[in-house]
Amino acid sequence: MNRTHTCGELRSKDSGSTVILNGWVHSVRWHGNVVFIDLRDRYGKTQVVIDSNISKDNFDVAKKLSMEDVLSISGIVQKRSGDASNPDLETGDIEVLVKELKILNEAAPLPFILTDRYSSSEELRLKYRYLELRMEELQGFIQLRHKAYQATRRYLSGQDFLEIETPVLMKSTPEGARDYLVPSRIHKGKFYALPQSPQTYKQLLMIGGFDKYFQIVKCFRDEDLRSDRQPEFTQIDIEMSFVDEMDVRELCERLTNYIFTEVKGILLSDQYPVMTYAQAIKTYGTDKPDLRYGLELQEFKDIALRSDFTSFQDAAEVSVLVVNDPKFSYSRKVIDKLTELARQNGAKGLAWLKVAEGDFSGGISKFFNQELRQEIIKTFQLNNDAILFIVGDEAQTVYKSLGALRKTIAQHEDLVHNNKYEPLWIVEIPLFEWSDKENRFLAKHHPFTAPTNDNLVNTFKSEPGQMISRAYDLVINGYEVAGGSIRNHQIDVQRKIFDILEITEERAAEKFGFLLEALTYGAPPHGGIAYGFDRLIMLLAGIDNIRDVIAFPKTTSALSLMDRSPSIISDEQLKDLGIKIR
Ligand code: AMO
Repeated sequence: MNRTHTCGELRSKDSGSTVILNGWVHSVRWHGNVVFIDLRDRYGKTQVVIDSNISKDNFDVAKKLSMEDVLSISGIVQKRSGDASNPDLETGDIEVLVKELKILNEAAPLPFILTDRYSSSEELRLKYRYLELRMEELQGFIQLRHKAYQATRRYLSGQDFLEIETPVLMKSTPEGARDYLVPSRIHKGKFYALPQSPQTYKQLLMIGGFDKYFQIVKCFRDEDLRSDRQPEFTQIDIEMSFVDEMDVRELCERLTNYIFTEVKGILLSDQYPVMTYAQAIKTYGTDKPDLRYGLELQEFKDIALRSDFTSFQDAAEVSVLVVNDPKFSYSRKVIDKLTELARQNGAKGLAWLKVAEGDFSGGISKFFNQELRQEIIKTFQLNNDAILFIVGDEAQTVYKSLGALRKTIAQHEDLVHNNKYEPLWIVEIPLFEWSDKENRFLAKHHPFTAPTNDNLVNTFKSEPGQMISRAYDLVINGYEVAGGSIRNHQIDVQRKIFDILEITEERAAEKFGFLLEALTYGAPPHGGIAYGFDRLIMLLAGIDNIRDVIAFPKTTSALSLMDRSPSIISDEQLKDLGIKIR
């Protein structure tokens, strides 16, 4: 019995027609001699009715049904009477009176209840991911993801971008994370790497004359995982020739807006705000600020120096986070928690003040004289009950700890709304950052990022830490959704960068020789960007767990609980590859 309709399709206009539906038993309800079954497929659910007065045989079969059995039914659509209709179901105005019933396959007792996702642990659900995928929530996320792939392809293809695949087995050229390596059987002792991104290939495509490239591509990074990171994840990878930062950013704004509108009907602003990296760190304590709420960090040093609180006297920076008109209380317990959070982020402590009846109370208020108190109330336009959190320390510690506090307080104050989207660009990102561990500068983005022209002339080498790149990050609601840059298309600039990174000429030749050589054969100026596609879907879905938008994700320890990878391989395979496990 092949289906004539899906389980989400029938409406009252179909009353009287004979239909065949296939699907899973979602629920079974008994009413004397009648059984009501919700039959489910990915399109929806339909109530089917088995009446013993119509068919005793069907009724007997129905008695044996279990959840998730696969059924095929044929029957007649009938309109439900007023109070029997179900407004929660799209097909709720009708039901199908079953004439024939066939069990296509039986389901074994389920490891967890499919109608209540959070009644079982994530480990168990990941082990039986194919069952979890049947749940409405995940079905929705996967469909959303599909729509976003299609919207991306439609938009970029419409703008003359070509979709070009690049190799998955490539040369190991680490970009910050560790590579996943693949041993070569034919060339024993040699390895391919899985791409951390197709960065070098897309630059070579520009040199190859494909001035507008994109790819929806898997990337692999062996790094510490978090709720927004997976060892294999997907990028919308883009590269363009003869462009500057504005061209790339404008394209991304149009692409992002197109995806949000097509997939969710959400309108984002036409032009995203632009913020420098330094400004973001100082004001929000992070390079990926969530602009859905205010709570900016503000300068407090001038005032702090005039107080009697000695800890502030020799602090390089003092900033304050003001919660004016708090919605919720800041009990001792809450403040202790916030203090602990500040400490975890490097601060030595967390100072605080409360406003009560036009004056200060609690915390470090006794260190501020009356005049200073009134000045603070005026400067920060403090209302009654306002609470101020202050950290004085090295600048980076002040920003980092108050930045972490800002996020937690926003949650505490219920300021984070899932249906609000606030994109922005972060620009003027440093080219290098110092690594204490490696005792050298590392590329903040990747080594192919160009410095600004200004920096090329003035600061090359003398102050690498001060150099500014032509990189840009797209941030939405506190997530880095995309990152890219204008590249070095001139070989001498690229060589100088390698020099600062202390990558010797021999090593550069060995690692990136192919790219360096390609730059000498008429490389066009070029730049691009890559979106974290999974993160984008996560945002569109209004959730904060990246695993939910990937059909078969890995755990935070990079395991696949379903097929149990990684796994041991046979001695035979190892021998073939010339590998011995130490
Ligand atoms: P970058 O390393 O910034 O740039 O990566 C681009 C975007 O990919 C997403 N992302 C991740 N998503 C999930 N899990 C991960 N482990 C993960 N790592 C990164 C982020 C990030 O913004 N080749 C350059 C791009 C370019 O310069 O054009 C690159 O890969 O959303």
